[in-house]
Amino acid sequence: MSIKIAPSILSADKLNLEHDVKLVEEAGAQLLHVDVMDGLFVPAIAYGPAWVKELRAKTNLILDVHLMVERPERYIDTFAEAGADIIGVHVEATQHIYRALQQIKQAGVKAEVVINPGTPISTIETVLPIVDQVLVMTVNPGFGGQTFIPAMLDKVAALAALKQEKGYTFDIEIDGGANDVTTKQAYDTGATVVVAGSYVYDKVDPAAKIAKLQAVTAD
Ligand code: DX5
Ligand code: ZN
Repeated sequence: MSIKIAPSILSADKLNLEHDVKLVEEAGAQLLHVDVMDGLFVPAIAYGPAWVKELRAKTNLILDVHLMVERPERYIDTFAEAGADIIGVHVEATQHIYRALQQIKQAGVKAEVVINPGTPISTIETVLPIVDQVLVMTVNPGFGGQTFIPAMLDKVAALAALKQEKGYTFDIEIDGGANDVTTKQAYDTGATVVVAGSYVYDKVDPAAKIAKLQAVTAD
């Protein structure tokens, strides 16, 4: 077994997106990470529901939709209808994280809670029994190509320990600064899914990068 890979289309070629998606699908990625940014929760603006709908028609990859959006509950149903398989909401972006996660599940989609680098695990402990995935941001959200923050591995370890102790089955995903070295560290610490943007897409051979991530996490 090796880590599941979620290439982030934030770093893909927007005008050749179908090509870039097929490439990672054929290379063995399991998920496709779609970053949604509203210009408020994070400075940038990226990908809306219409993109998810188009992607849904073109790929069988699990669509992993990361909402970097204020009050994400306003958009959960729209992204569910567009074809998202997993919807992630930041604990920092809503006053009602439990309700937002319930709303995702009611829409028939896997529910993910996301935490920023400055947010401790204690803020999400009460929702862990109802989530399918926890996303630990390993950079400050908003941009691709940033440097992995090693201290975030402590959160991955703490979540892995809670999984063990309480019998939870959620996946632990990391997002930001992933490369072959940081992915191996995260996998060895308990991460089960890695988002990889610039590492996969800014290089000449995305398929080779995916093979490398699989190789360094093969056990
Ligand atoms: C950052 C996004 C990431 C981004 C990661 O806010 O959430 O998904 O695409 O990019 P890399 O892998 O280049 O750090
Ligand atoms: Zn992301």
